[in-house]
Amino acid sequence: MKMFAPSDWENWERKYRAHFINSLTGYKSVNLIGTINEEGKSNLAIFSSIVHIGSNPALIGFINRPLTDTSHTLKNIRQTGYYTINHIHDSFLDQAHETSGKYPAEVNEFDLVGLKEMFVEGIKPPFVAASKIKYLLRFQKEIPIELNGTYLIIGKLERVILEEEIIEGDGFLKIHDSGSVASNGMDAYYGTSFIKRNKEVR
Ligand SMILES: Cc1cc2nc3c(=O)[nH]c(=O)nc-3n(C[C@H](O)[C@H](O)[C@H](O)COP(=O)(O)O)c2cc1C
Repeated sequence: MKMFAPSDWENWERKYRAHFINSLTGYKSVNLIGTINEEGKSNLAIFSSIVHIGSNPALIGFINRPLTDTSHTLKNIRQTGYYTINHIHDSFLDQAHETSGKYPAEVNEFDLVGLKEMFVEGIKPPFVAASKIKYLLRFQKEIPIELNGTYLIIGKLERVILEEEIIEGDGFLKIHDSGSVASNGMDAYYGTSFIKRNKEVR
């Protein structure tokens, strides 16, 4: 095996370094975040940094890159305080990937990539109709990470929409049955195969 050091990756070409470092942390859940701005324009973008923060209260976080003129997810979350997270399946993987492009604010990525929006009464941001597991978060806190200009965005779980059959007797969600995909790096996607559930170790 070969050992790498900062003197290696600090001198690599930008894209090569990004691929290498991004895929080092392994398989991630990959999701579409749905938001809406104050003018009522929807936005949809793919994110793979979603992380469980705690179950009680139910808190979920994600990392947002440094803001640019074309970053709409975080700007919309700041404006309206709500956002949806939607699992991705094989059937719309290419459309989901396409949402990673930098589009102007007037562009609704749902329309651009051909995904249907699902609106629920009393809830502002759109869900992805085709997603089998989706949930609504209420913005709680953004923590700037000064080290690289990114943000940890924390939301509180407000609603969950899924087929009840995927819930096991003890509350565990069989997301492998819903065909949710995983990702690694910036362009690799995986189907998943269930290995087993283990006994809780006390
Ligand atoms: C597989 C994949 C995963 C991504 N994960 C993230 C992420 O976790 N955080 C992030 O800020 N951008 C991530 N991106 C990039 C965003 O999708 C991209 O910046 C997008 O334009 C953001 O949309 P917005 O400008 O509407 O907020 C990812 C892109 C791909 C293809």
